[in-house]
Amino acid sequence: MLRPHAEHAFAHELAALAAADDRPRPERWRLSPWAVATYLLGGTLPDGTVVSPKYVGPRRIVEVAVATLATDRALLLLGVPGTAKTWLSEHLAAAVSGDSTLLVQGTAGTPEEAIRYGWNYARLLAHGPSRAALVPGPVMRAMAEGMTARVEELTRIPADVQDTLITVLSEKTLPVPELGEEVQAVHGFNLIATANDRDRGVNELSSALRRRFNTVVLPLPADADAEVDIVARRVDQLGRSLRLPAAPEGYEEIRRVVTVFRELREGVTADGRTQLKSPSGTLSTAEAISVVTGGLALAAHFGDGVLRPGDVAAGILGAVVRDPASDPVVWQEYLETVVRERAGWKDFYRACREVGA
Ligand SMILES: Nc1ncnc2c1ncn2[C@@H]1O[C@H](COP(=O)(O)OP(=O)(O)O)[C@@H](O)[C@H]1O
Ligand SMILES: [Mg+2]
Repeated sequence: MLRPHAEHAFAHELAALAAADDRPRPERWRLSPWAVATYLLGGTLPDGTVVSPKYVGPRRIVEVAVATLATDRALLLLGVPGTAKTWLSEHLAAAVSGDSTLLVQGTAGTPEEAIRYGWNYARLLAHGPSRAALVPGPVMRAMAEGMTARVEELTRIPADVQDTLITVLSEKTLPVPELGEEVQAVHGFNLIATANDRDRGVNELSSALRRRFNTVVLPLPADADAEVDIVARRVDQLGRSLRLPAAPEGYEEIRRVVTVFRELREGVTADGRTQLKSPSGTLSTAEAISVVTGGLALAAHFGDGVLRPGDVAAGILGAVVRDPASDPVVWQEYLETVVRERAGWKDFYRACREVGA
């Protein structure tokens, strides 16, 4: 499979955690909250199994997220793009319920049926509305089975459709007026939503809905070392699933990508001496991961397998220059005032000059 779900990719770790876990589990949870946090943050189990860290960041954030899922409040993961909201949500659902696929992808066109239920029209026309003709959506299934449901990009969903969730989260029930019935949530049901900070204003969360959530804000990586660590780890995993050769000497280039992204994002050089203009793009950790993965593919297929400045330069330029009017100026200025003067960055400067003038 090109991209197995978390519960399959890490089935071995989840099984080892379940075996070692002697703490109390909330009803229908596969693991105790403690073991869920260990799955996310990593650790070594008494039997020697090494659990890889999935989320790199403050432990408290993970603990609050997991603890919330054990209450009757839903969890809202909020943050700028690329702060691992989707990633964390998938791994939380995998660890808590053993299934991360009960997912509603939020878009401007998400209809109410995606959150509630639809109908099998052949059956509906032949026999009228019945349980057999009802096609439950992911949230309804999670309620009936006591599982974790996920809603991605909640604030992209039109406000009136979002409000469908109010009854689900406050009354823990989903009425089916066509059948004169309702589906009531059983223990174990909860919901994780993600939303983008930058989308604020697209479809603001109604305050009625917001009150049903505990909000956890995911921060950008605290420092360059943490970000390099995240990128290196993910690139390694992705490279293996894409069958790219490992790049043992790629670390230096990863650090360079992260440095460029952080400096431009923060509007100041790492030494704090030079103020910079920030480009319009987000230059997130997730984008740094794509730039390096793309660079590895170049190095593997068109180079000697070693990640070099020329393999990441085009990717960096593509991530920085999003707005063709203003971003090229920002990039040129950074290139000429910072990159050009920096010790050990000559090759990188030349590679950047080559890909875009
Ligand atoms: N703090 C972090 N810990 C682990 N991985 C991270 C972190 N920040 C970003 N990532 C990685 O970056 C990517 C983030 O993508 P995603 O979860 O889609 O972001 P978001 O949904 O917040 O826009 C994932 O591949 C994830 O592994
Ligand atoms: Mg996301």
